[in-house]
Amino acid sequence: MNRREQWGSRTGLILSMAGNAIGLGNFLRFPVQAAQNGGGAYMIPYFISFILLGIPLMWIEWGIGRYGGTIGHGTAPGMFDSLWKNKLAKYAGTLGIFLPLVVLIYYTYICSWTLAFSFYSLFNLYPSAGAALAAGSAGEYLIPYQNYLYDYIGVSSGGVFQVPNPAAYAFFAVTLLTTLYVLMKGVSGGIEKLNNLAIPALFIMGFVLFIRVITLKSPVDPALTASRGFGFLWEPDLKGIISPKVWLAAAGQIFFTLSLGLGAILTYASYVKRDEDIVLDGLATASLNELAEVVLGSTIAIVSAVIFFGVEGAREISEGGAFKLGFISMPAIFTHMPFGQFFGFLWFLLLFFAGLTSVVALSQPAIAFFEDEFGWSRKRSVVSLGIFAALTVLIPMFVRGGLDEMDFWAGTFGLVILALFEVIIFFWIFGAENAWEEIGRGARIKVPRIFFYIMKYVTPAFLIIILFAWTYEQLPSVIAKGDRGVWATRLFLIFLLLLHIGAVRWAWKRRKHG
Ligand code: PHE
Repeated sequence: MNRREQWGSRTGLILSMAGNAIGLGNFLRFPVQAAQNGGGAYMIPYFISFILLGIPLMWIEWGIGRYGGTIGHGTAPGMFDSLWKNKLAKYAGTLGIFLPLVVLIYYTYICSWTLAFSFYSLFNLYPSAGAALAAGSAGEYLIPYQNYLYDYIGVSSGGVFQVPNPAAYAFFAVTLLTTLYVLMKGVSGGIEKLNNLAIPALFIMGFVLFIRVITLKSPVDPALTASRGFGFLWEPDLKGIISPKVWLAAAGQIFFTLSLGLGAILTYASYVKRDEDIVLDGLATASLNELAEVVLGSTIAIVSAVIFFGVEGAREISEGGAFKLGFISMPAIFTHMPFGQFFGFLWFLLLFFAGLTSVVALSQPAIAFFEDEFGWSRKRSVVSLGIFAALTVLIPMFVRGGLDEMDFWAGTFGLVILALFEVIIFFWIFGAENAWEEIGRGARIKVPRIFFYIMKYVTPAFLIIILFAWTYEQLPSVIAKGDRGVWATRLFLIFLLLLHIGAVRWAWKRRKHG
C-alpha cells in the first residue's frame, strides 16, 4: 500500500476544502435557484436546510473521511466497509466514486467554457451592440449574446446531436490538462498549492465585482438601483415555507454547493491528521462557501440583472437557467459599461477558478480509489483518469440533453442517496455515540449536544422525505421524457455504474488474495 499523503498546512487544508465547495454552483446555480423560487421565499428553506442538512453532513463527511484515511481508505467503499461489517457495505460505497466521476464529466466541460469566455472578454470579441435597451426588452437585447453562446456550444434545436465550435475542444483540452497537471503533483504539492492561490484570488475578484455591481446605475430606469435587487433577494417571504418545490430546490442546492453526498469531501478529509480539529475546519469550510454564495454569488448575477432588466426581466432570464444568467446576461451587462471588457474578464476568470478547484476535487476520489484500492502509482491513476475524462466528455459535448441528464442523476438525485447511506452507516450502524466521539476527537470547541439528535434523527428523516418527494414529484416526469440521446446517456450511466461495482469487487478480491 502507498503511504498516504497529507495536507501540508491547516490554512492549505481549509482553503482546499473551500475550493472544493465553492464552485460554479455558487455563482451560477444559486442565483438562478433563488430567482426562480421567488427570492426571499427561497432563503428561509435554504437557511433551515443549511442548519439541518448542510452542517451535520459536513461534519459527518469529515468524520467518516478522517476515519477512513487513518486506515488507508480514501473513498467510500473502504470507509463503509470498515464502519459496517457487511458484504454489501463496499457496494453502497460505490456511489462515492461513481457520482463524482459523472459530475466531473460535464462539470469540466462547463468549466472550460468559463476559460473560453474570459479569454473572449479580455480580447473584446463580444458582439457590441444589440437591440437598444428599453425597459422590458431583455429578451431581444440578449439575442446576440445568446447566439454567441449557442454557437460556441453548438446548441441545436432538433436531432440527437449537436456540434460545438472547434474552440470548445481547445479550451476543454487546456482545462483538462491543467487539472491533470495539478493532480500529478499530489495532494499537498498540487491541490493545496492551487487552492492557496486560487481561493484568495477568487475572493478578491468577487469583492471587486460586488462593489462594481452595487454601484451600477441603471441604463433604463433610475429607480432600478441595487437596493431593488437586494430587496428582491432578501425581503423575507413566508410563502416558500409551505411549498414543497421550494424546499426541494433549497435542499438540493445545499447539497450541491457544499459538495455533500458525492464523496468529494470524504476524500479530501481522508488526508487530514488523526487529531485535526475537524469540527472547526468543517464550519470554516461551510462558512467560506456561504460567504461566496449568498453574498457574492447572488449579488453579482442577480442584482446586476435587476439593475439592467428590472425584477421581471431578471426573473425571466433565470427561467432560462444558469447558463442564460451567467453566460448570456452577464456578458451583455458587461459590454455595456465602462471597462466592461475587464470586468467581464474578471467574472469569467472568477468562474474558472471556482470551477477548476472543484474539478480537481471531483477527480480526487477516483485517484484515491486507484491508489488505495488498486495499489496503482499516482501517475498511472492520473493518466487513466485523463483518458476517461477526454473520452466521456464527448457525451455532454455532442449529445443533446446529455449534460442535463447527467446533472439530474448524479448532481440532483444520486447525492441524496449517498448522503442517506452515510448518515445511516455512521450514526445507526457504526453507532451514534461512536460517530459523535469520532467527529469530536481533537476538537477544541464542543458541538452543542442538540446536533447529536439532529444528526441521528432529523437529518436522516429530512433526507428520506426529500427522497420520497423527489421520487413522487420529479422522477416520473423525468423518466417519461427523453429522446434517443437522453436514453443513450442513461444506458451509458448504467453501464458506468456496473463497471464501478465490478471494480470494487475486483479490488476486494485482489486484497483477499494479495
Ligand atoms: N460544490 C461545487 C459547486 O458548488 C460542486 C461540487 C460538488 C464540487 C461536489 C465538488 C464535489 O459548484
